[in-house]
Amino acid sequence: MTAFAHLEVHPATASERLDAYLAEQERNSLLRLVTCGSVDDGKSTLIGRLLYDTKLVFDDQLAALQSDSHRHGTAGEELDFALLVDGLEAEREQGITIDVAYRFFSTPRRRFIIADAPGHEQYTRNMATAASTADVAILLVDARHGILRQTKRHSFIAALLGVRHVVLAVNKIDLVGYSREVFEKIVAEYRKFAVRLGFSVMSIPISARFGDNITGAPFLLPWYHGPALLEYLEGLSLDNEEAAQPFRFPVQYVSRPNSDFRGFSGTIASGMISPGDEVVVAKSGRKAHIKRIVTYDGDLERATEGQAVTIVLDDEIEISRGNVLAAPSARPEVADQFSAHIVWFSDSTLIPGRNYILRTETDQVMATITDLKYRLDVDSFAQEAAKSLELNGVGICNISTQEPIVFDPYKSNRAMGSFVLIDRLTNATVGAGMIDFALRRASNVHWQALDIDKAQRALRKEQKPAVLWFTGLSGSGKSTIANLVEKRLSSLGMHTYTLDGDNVRHGLNRDLGFTEEDRVENIRRVGEVAKLMTDAGLVVLVSFISPFRSERRMVRELLDEGEFLEIFVDTSFEECARRDPKGLYAKAKRGEIKNFTGVDSPYELPENPELCLQTDGRTAEELARAVEELLVKRGIILQHLRRA
Ligand code: ADX
Repeated sequence: MTAFAHLEVHPATASERLDAYLAEQERNSLLRLVTCGSVDDGKSTLIGRLLYDTKLVFDDQLAALQSDSHRHGTAGEELDFALLVDGLEAEREQGITIDVAYRFFSTPRRRFIIADAPGHEQYTRNMATAASTADVAILLVDARHGILRQTKRHSFIAALLGVRHVVLAVNKIDLVGYSREVFEKIVAEYRKFAVRLGFSVMSIPISARFGDNITGAPFLLPWYHGPALLEYLEGLSLDNEEAAQPFRFPVQYVSRPNSDFRGFSGTIASGMISPGDEVVVAKSGRKAHIKRIVTYDGDLERATEGQAVTIVLDDEIEISRGNVLAAPSARPEVADQFSAHIVWFSDSTLIPGRNYILRTETDQVMATITDLKYRLDVDSFAQEAAKSLELNGVGICNISTQEPIVFDPYKSNRAMGSFVLIDRLTNATVGAGMIDFALRRASNVHWQALDIDKAQRALRKEQKPAVLWFTGLSGSGKSTIANLVEKRLSSLGMHTYTLDGDNVRHGLNRDLGFTEEDRVENIRRVGEVAKLMTDAGLVVLVSFISPFRSERRMVRELLDEGEFLEIFVDTSFEECARRDPKGLYAKAKRGEIKNFTGVDSPYELPENPELCLQTDGRTAEELARAVEELLVKRGIILQHLRRA
């Protein structure tokens, strides 16, 4: 009997199956597209054509389009479909598309969301954003120009972001006389390149401008027997990997409209749930059962991937933002060290050791790239050794976050495995990442609690620990002033230590030079050492050029509130070059030293230093006294010591 249990059709099971079938149909009927290509390949024209041919363009928009085409158009007297899509005035002036625009259209067979990703070299970021949710990438190629570096780059990023289907749309086929030879040559070249990306590739010759092969069969392409673009997209079947994945629900916020109701809101990243199912809180491991699945349209008996819902549990357990509800039988990873692919979007380079904000679907933590393992060449797929990543670069690296985050590898779950990196000073999104796997190394190293702590060590020395961070150009006078200050503190009986750039570079940082990356690492290490020394209860004087705001801020944040005192030794470049105590400025001017601060390496001025020392016309003793005043004000030098 039990062996045939699966043949028994329980009424509830049948209706559940029907529900599941319908949900499946619903999902399958929506196709997410991303268009990519170089400037002028005709993306906007294609999208305009799709909207027009599926009758989504309303009459008033058409009237506006007609008058616009006369003013800006590039298509003579005909309608310029690109204008329909390029909504922004700025784009029209420049003739390029500069942001991701999402459009919706449908046919009787399917609904579509299409993202128009810009083709301009700088806008990889938008392309990646659009591709991260797409099922299909339509890769536009101008038949006259064939496969470009940009085409390869976009394919590579689409593959990296998990797009599995590509339509190679060879556009402007009319401009090469509807030539079969041209088409086949482009297709052959693309296939050769794309085999390693694991796409399914469908190649279609089109003319977006004249509508050839978009919705119906082309009149002038007797040699082409495949489907028209829309026909192919309507028929494409997806294997719906996300729905088959274990349940994942990143909690966006806790909904608490009144004291009787407490629910967790968010969008289901993968899997399915019903009331009664058991779930686990990824970070804490606490378990509970689902009591209700609430939506605006009432409660649900089942919810699946992509649905926005509020979940009520049968138990009052704590779930903070950034946490994930998951299937207990298949829990996601929780780790603070992992390996990831990074695509870099920013003009400023990615530097290992620097702090960035890492943002996942629900969480936001501080992160550093601890190790850039290699860079991938987009053309040859070769792995190249690299110390930093430039604009549009793709790299594989190890990342360490300040707090553990919840994730799945990107390969098995796109929503759970992706993140963006944000620059802390400019707030710009500078990179996108795809997590490959957690690193186990650090997971067995725990923080050791010690019985004697910082407060006790400081008490014993009868002082308040602090870091006096002297920053400024080489030769500005940092070390001279720091030396006088330390002598004074020592004479007051205080316990001090000085970390000086030149000295530390002879030992701990002997392996570092003066590139941007090395300077970041230089400051990271000395910041950590200064932190250990304050922990020992010392007053630490640090005298390093420390030219970057980002790292000075990083050290400030390593320390307790009020412990870090930034002292800007403000001597002009001209004055430092005139003094030139070590003869380095003269050498740099002769080109004998590379990356010299102020010459061919930048110095970023402090924005809010605790003290700014203008050195012009003042003696080192006067400047040291100014520092002393600051220390008195901050309670680091105690009044009674001075009187004694
Ligand atoms: S930092 O930029 O990484 O903070 P740091 O303070 O450690 O620099 O070292 C600066 C000292 O190294 C200078 O005072 C100078 O004596 C020496 N030096 C040698 N080469 C350079 C260079 N290219 N730029 C700046 N300083 C240099």
